[in-house]
Amino acid sequence: MLHFIFEKHLEQGYSVQIEQDNQDDICQHWVATYKSKDVGSIRLWPKPNGVAKLGRLSVLSSSRGLYIGQKLVLEFIEYCKQNKFNAIVLHSQYPKRGFYEKLGFVIEEGDEIFEEAGTPHVRMWMRNL
Ligand SMILES: CC(C)(COP(=O)(O)OP(=O)(O)OC[C@H]1O[C@@H](n2cnc3c(N)ncnc32)[C@H](O)[C@@H]1OP(=O)(O)O)[C@@H](O)C(=O)NCCC(=O)NCCS
Repeated sequence: MLHFIFEKHLEQGYSVQIEQDNQDDICQHWVATYKSKDVGSIRLWPKPNGVAKLGRLSVLSSSRGLYIGQKLVLEFIEYCKQNKFNAIVLHSQYPKRGFYEKLGFVIEEGDEIFEEAGTPHVRMWMRNL
C-alpha cells in the first residue's frame, strides 16, 4: 500500500511522514485492483461512539476517472453499515469536497476550514448509517 501513499505525497508535495501516525495496526485497509493491478486504497480508523474515520483514500494517477475512488468509498460505507458503525467522518482537502458530496457526505454547520498537512481541509460527515 505504501506506493499509493508515496505517489500521492510526491504529487501533492507532502512528506510521507505525515501519514505515519502509528494507527495502521488498529485500522482496516482495503486495496482496489483493476486489471490485476493494485490501483487504490482506503483506510478505516475506528473511533469512539461508533464513528468510522475514512482516510488514506488514494487512486493511482494513471487509474483515475474510472470510478475506482467512488467504488472504494461505497464499499467502505457498506462495510460500516454492516458492522454497526453509526457515522463516518473524514477530513477532505477543501478543493476535493465535491467528490465526497456526490457520495452523500456533508459539511456541518460550524465546521470551519482548517489546515492539515499544509493544505486547507474540511471535516465531512455521513451520519445515521
Ligand atoms: C480523489 C480521488 C480519490 C478520486 O478518485 P477517482 O477514482 O479518480 O474518482 P472517481 O472516478 O471515482 O470520481 C467519481 C466522481 O467524483 C468526481 N471527482 C473525482 N475527483 C474529484 C475531485 N478532486 N474533486 C471533485 N470531484 C471529483 C468525478 O468527476 C466523478 O463525478 P461524476 O460522477 O459526475 O462523473 C483521486 O483523484 C486521488 O487519489 N487523488 C489523490 C489523493 C487524494 O486526493 N485523496 C483524497 C484526499 S481528500
